[in-house]
Amino acid sequence: MDLSTTFLGFLLKNPLIASASPLTASLESIKRLEDNGIAAVIMHSLFEEEINHDIHQIDHFLHINSDSYAEAISYLPSEVDFNNLQADHYLHEIHRIKESVDVPLIASLNGVSAGGWVKYAQKIEQAGADAIELNITYIPTTIDLEGSVVEQMYVETVAMLAREVSLPINVKMNAYFSNPANMAKRFVEAGARGLSIFDNPTLVDVDLELLSVLQRANITTSYNLSETLRWCGILYQKLSCSLCANTGIHSGEDVLKAMMSGADATALASLLLIKGEGEIKNILTNMTEWMEKYEYDSIEQMKGSISLLHTDNPSAYERNSYMYALQHYRR
Ligand SMILES: Cc1cc2nc3c(=O)[nH]c(=O)nc-3n(C[C@H](O)[C@H](O)[C@H](O)COP(=O)(O)O)c2cc1C
Repeated sequence: MDLSTTFLGFLLKNPLIASASPLTASLESIKRLEDNGIAAVIMHSLFEEEINHDIHQIDHFLHINSDSYAEAISYLPSEVDFNNLQADHYLHEIHRIKESVDVPLIASLNGVSAGGWVKYAQKIEQAGADAIELNITYIPTTIDLEGSVVEQMYVETVAMLAREVSLPINVKMNAYFSNPANMAKRFVEAGARGLSIFDNPTLVDVDLELLSVLQRANITTSYNLSETLRWCGILYQKLSCSLCANTGIHSGEDVLKAMMSGADATALASLLLIKGEGEIKNILTNMTEWMEKYEYDSIEQMKGSISLLHTDNPSAYERNSYMYALQHYRR
């Protein structure tokens, strides 16, 4: 059975990538992921705040100058203090991991602004990473800040990163744009060679003992797969970039659904955190058994087969079907 696929220009032995999480924060667990069959690894993120001590300046810019983005960007620090232990440790880890594992290693930068911190990507490239994933998630809390300003900031950040490095860039998108497909297009035009569909934001909750708001990591289930499938299906073959289904992949069946929707690869975090690295082998076995039963020879054969382009039921992706789904439930 040929489970191989191409993602970001890398030939992967199967579509399973370890998404950024504590499991990709140490050489030991990355080795265990590789031993169990993972095809590529996205390291835990290095955050803009860890690189750039001037994050408050960025917030200041967003709040004060929200109506004049181009002007405001010049207020950002063009150089940052790179003598930062946390960030240097990240480079050291890239170097160590690259010496010990064979699968492609994708470093992860997590930030929001086209500031000097992006230059740090050059050091990541020099340290030996094979690609960079950029997770851009900004939560605006100012009602005067228009969506178009935030979107422009995202695109500028991708464009700036693309100018800094020659490594393939994968943009980890979020689903909260008025038109995610248009943002996907703009990211690719700005230099992204791949898109992860989607990031899964942290959860906000209230601690009734402390009477305080708190934020915690969001552990998903297969129930969270819906938007991943929808947008992989819509974007399939619309852009010249790779698509990685990211959020809600919890079984071999989920991987197959994502590939049929149009993904080139799938990234997993929650499942591996809950069940451990050994679950990778179960997923690969489940995929192979299903493919044998339904007489598929390869992953390539099924890619995009139920995408918006090829499905016999295109309305399932659209608003029309939303009405029927609700009416059907009422009956
Ligand atoms: C505990 C935890 C830590 C995470 N750390 C990061 C991170 O450092 N950078 C990042 O981009 N995503 C991070 N994520 C998000 C995951 O990479 C992934 O995108 C998300 O959990 C959705 O995938 P899943 O449904 O397989 O969990 C983290 C998720 C969890 C649960």
